[in-house]
Amino acid sequence: MSAVTLKDIVKRFADFTAVHKMSLEIPEGSFVTLLGPSGCGKTTTLRMVAGLLDPSEGEIAIGGRRINDVPIHKRNLGLVFQNYALFPHKTIAENVAFGLKYRSIARDEARRRVQAALDLVQLPDVGERYPKQLSGGQQQRIALARAIVIEPDVLLLDEPLSALDANLREDMRVELKRIQERIGVTTIFVTHDQSEALAMSDQIVVMSKGRVEQVGPPEDVYNTPASEFVANFLGASNILEANCVGREGESLIVETSIFGRIPVPAGKAPKVSDEGPVKLVVRAEKLQLAARGAPAGDAIEVDAIVETVDYQGQAVRYFVRAGERQLQAINLIDERPFSEGAPVSLRLRPRDCAALPVS
Ligand SMILES: Nc1ncnc2c1ncn2[C@@H]1O[C@H](COP(=O)(O)OP(=O)(O)O)[C@@H](O)[C@H]1O
Ligand SMILES: [Mg+2]
Repeated sequence: MSAVTLKDIVKRFADFTAVHKMSLEIPEGSFVTLLGPSGCGKTTTLRMVAGLLDPSEGEIAIGGRRINDVPIHKRNLGLVFQNYALFPHKTIAENVAFGLKYRSIARDEARRRVQAALDLVQLPDVGERYPKQLSGGQQQRIALARAIVIEPDVLLLDEPLSALDANLREDMRVELKRIQERIGVTTIFVTHDQSEALAMSDQIVVMSKGRVEQVGPPEDVYNTPASEFVANFLGASNILEANCVGREGESLIVETSIFGRIPVPAGKAPKVSDEGPVKLVVRAEKLQLAARGAPAGDAIEVDAIVETVDYQGQAVRYFVRAGERQLQAINLIDERPFSEGAPVSLRLRPRDCAALPVS
């Protein structure tokens, strides 16, 4: 059974529709991420599940029970937002215990649960301190402890790591995932950060302009994007105009002006018909530069000229020209990167390509 179900959810603000007929099944115990650019409706969706906003249309169920009319304090949900919002004049232990106040829980049991929550977020000894005595990352752990102390049915997290600086954010995402797995709580996580979504999620729900573009495990969404939007939002992609000219076994034969005919795995082109115009998605990190004349193995190769070199430390992002087109390639640095103006060979393996229908 799904822990959370959204059925044809619509949210209008006056004449603006922020969420269009959104449907979603979130399995029990899973970590599901709503991913999309700012303004695409992630927070609005989460707030409807939380009970902070009423949907204009549609149904929301938790544990199979319709909850549209159940008030927020009866939904048994744990909430964490970007600005951790701890009470400054309460101790950490009082902050964490806050959620238990309106539940009839004996004092000893409450104390035990608060300590267990603090242990879980690896801050066992800070109960007597006040929020301002903790760092931002520690305060965010306390906000998480406060959300899980009530043993929620669902944990709702709205960009909880965004306010932290980059290194801490990466540590915290590992930590957050560890805690979620440990207690097995169904979690809906909101972020605009694709690497966060890829690293943490069982399922990613990619959203754009209030609509769901694609739902799937990180690898599927990344390797087999369902739309041009998804291909561009998760990583850097080259999108080429192409024509499907037929099928050979498990491959669709896709013809492009730059690379000629490419046998694209049919599984990576689920909605493409055997004949007619298509778009070919080539991820920037799947396009490899090599010296001309070097063996190409099973790759298709074309000549190109390096136009721009954007050095990134571990990797280089190249903009190269192949005929009429500029393409981008992100390559790990092996020896010395190619320089601007260098003649190179561009390599592409057919199995790394995906095809999309022309919308
Ligand atoms: N209370 C509101 N009144 C009017 N428009 C709103 C309100 N809340 C959100 N919106 C609009 O709905 C859209 C989605 O917002 P939001 O869900 O916050 O996006 P996200 O969290 O993905 O950045 C945005 O265009 C936003 O301006
Ligand atoms: Mg938001």
